Amino acid sequence: MVLGIIALLGAMMVVTGLHWASMPPSRVETIDVKTVHLKGEFVESNLGTALGPDGKVTVRLIAQQYSFVPQCIVVPEGMPVTFRGTATDAIHGFVVGKTNANTMLVPGFVATFTATFPKAGEQLMPCHEYCGTGHEAMWARVQVLPRDEFLARSRGGERMSCVPR
Ligand code: CUA
Repeated sequence: MVLGIIALLGAMMVVTGLHWASMPPSRVETIDVKTVHLKGEFVESNLGTALGPDGKVTVRLIAQQYSFVPQCIVVPEGMPVTFRGTATDAIHGFVVGKTNANTMLVPGFVATFTATFPKAGEQLMPCHEYCGTGHEAMWARVQVLPRDEFLARSRGGERMSCVPR
C-alpha cells in the first residue's frame, strides 16, 4: 500500500513536470535588453502614462539599479490602468501602496497587468525584489488623480508623469 502511494506520487511528479516543461505559460512577452533604451516601446519619450484613442490608460515604466523611470506615475481614479514594465539590469519588482498592483520586473521580459485605483491620493511604490546595495532606496510614487483632472491633463495625448522632464 505504502509503496503504491509512493509510486503514485512519483508518477504524478513526473507527469506534471513533463506537462509544464512542454507547455510554457501561454503569454510570455520578451524584449531585447541591449536595445530597450534605444528603440521600441520603452524608449524614454514613451515612458509614463498614456491615454489611448480608445480611452485605455497604459503606464509604461522601466526599473534599473536603483530607480524607476518615471519616478512618479499619474493614474486616474476608478479607471482600469494597464501597466507594462521591464527591467534593464537586475530583477526588480514593485507594489503600489496597499493595492493589489504588484509585479516582478525581469530583464528580457515585459511584465503586464491591469489594476484599478478606487481612491484619489498618493501612494508609495517601493521595489520589492532585492536588487543590490541600493535596493532600500529604490522607490517611486503613484499619484491617483480624480478622473476629470486626469482626463483634462491627458488631453494632449502626451506621455504623462508627475516629474518635470
Ligand atoms: Cu530594485 Cu530592489
